[in-house]
Amino acid sequence: MSMVTAICPGSFDPITVGHVDIIKRAADMFDRVIVLVAHNRSKTSTFTVDERVEFIKRVTKDIPNVEVDSFDGLLVDYVRDKGAKAIVKGLRAVSDFEYEFQMALVNKKLYPQADTVFLTTSAENMYLSSSVVKQVGSMGGDISPFIPDQVLNDIKIRLMERKEY
Ligand code: PNS
Repeated sequence: MSMVTAICPGSFDPITVGHVDIIKRAADMFDRVIVLVAHNRSKTSTFTVDERVEFIKRVTKDIPNVEVDSFDGLLVDYVRDKGAKAIVKGLRAVSDFEYEFQMALVNKKLYPQADTVFLTTSAENMYLSSSVVKQVGSMGGDISPFIPDQVLNDIKIRLMERKEY
């Protein structure tokens, strides 16, 4: 039997409990999961790529088949390089679908050997996004329900230093 590798790509700026839910479920389905922090050239980020990688490592350290990496370039090049079969994405709402569907189709055209697998977000995380968390945190709101415990303090402090998102 061959090992099936899946890539969980995203900005993770920062990681939320919604991301953790998707990563855990992917880790149950695939032999090996690589959480991939993509440098996104069209988005300005709050946390550096290294910070985001370190946060995810801390949060996933007890899941043995999860690794964390970063990548600057085309996602499918990374997928090919790792011999991965799946790109895992979480879908929250219909509003996510159009963009995700477009990316899935482009990626499939560029690299037909891998498929995008959409996992439905748990109902309690439907509303959650990194940008909403950043807005709440920067205005002094309680972000503890949204951010994993292991990284909560670091993220809270950083968001309070910057006032607007
Ligand atoms: O968390 P996000 O911001 O929705 O993640 C988007 C991401 C990083 C997965 C996407 O922008 C991506 O794959 N970027 C890498 C560059 C690339 O391959 N672009 C073409 C995809 S159609």
